[in-house]
Amino acid sequence: MAYVIAIASHKGGVGKTTTTVNLAAALSAMGRKILAVDLDPQGGLTVCTGIHPDSLEKTIYDALKRQKGGESIMLATKFGADLLPANVDLALIEIELVNAIARERRLAAVLNPLRDNYDFILIDCSPSLGLLTLNAMTVADGVIIPVACEYLAMRAVRGFVKFVRKVQGSANSKLEVIGILPTMFDKRTRHAQETYKELMNAFHPQIPVLPYIVYRSIRFAEAAEAAESILTYAKAAPGADAYRDLAKFMIERYCPEKE
Ligand SMILES: Nc1ncnc2c1ncn2[C@@H]1O[C@H](COP(=O)(O)OP(=O)(O)O)[C@@H](O)[C@H]1O
Ligand SMILES: [Mg+2]
Repeated sequence: MAYVIAIASHKGGVGKTTTTVNLAAALSAMGRKILAVDLDPQGGLTVCTGIHPDSLEKTIYDALKRQKGGESIMLATKFGADLLPANVDLALIEIELVNAIARERRLAAVLNPLRDNYDFILIDCSPSLGLLTLNAMTVADGVIIPVACEYLAMRAVRGFVKFVRKVQGSANSKLEVIGILPTMFDKRTRHAQETYKELMNAFHPQIPVLPYIVYRSIRFAEAAEAAESILTYAKAAPGADAYRDLAKFMIERYCPEKE
């Protein structure tokens, strides 16, 4: 039975898609069955796997509309994970479902029948607090919040944590905050150190700041462009370890029986 993780923040450019790709690749390399779900109309996750979103006839949009049919849109990736892809069609869903009953449970209807086939399902969320992210939070068992170690990071996290608390009080009382994942940490700057310290002071341990710091490295953008994970593209890059260690942590905590 898969443990479902939403990788989410309403801030863009904080490493959500990068975390989804590299965590999926690391977990797959460790022998776990992974389904990655692109829930961003920009299709960033789909692009990162080397698939052109606009060329797809069927995407997660169709599955959400029909509330089934995950298998029929599923694609294989070279990371070893399966993918439910997205493209710009997904942007329509918020409007189309505006009056639908239980519209926050559409993704659950699509993913729940697939849970038995996987160890983890990772959902790459769009940078918003709209219906799509609410759908991800409703089906998820846990959420990881990537936070770039940069100016103004704190405000964004506070807003997102409020949203998580609301979801826990309504649509999904079992939602667990796995933690904040510090990303884009520039080792050379004091600024990154300071942001990190502020994060710890403001949130830890109520909202755990995960002890896996993803350092800033140009290799992440290069790997994405090459449609590879950091683990195959530049496994010694600063930051690659964080994703390996995060994967190990997730396995020990949620799926140890295959060790
Ligand atoms: N640790 C990192 N160091 C440097 N660049 C990164 C890092 N993580 C991600 N990036 C790059 O930053 C950009 C935004 O990352 P992305 O994962 O797409 O963020 P989001 O999905 O939150 O919008 C991408 O170009 C990505 O390659
Ligand atoms: Mg993204």
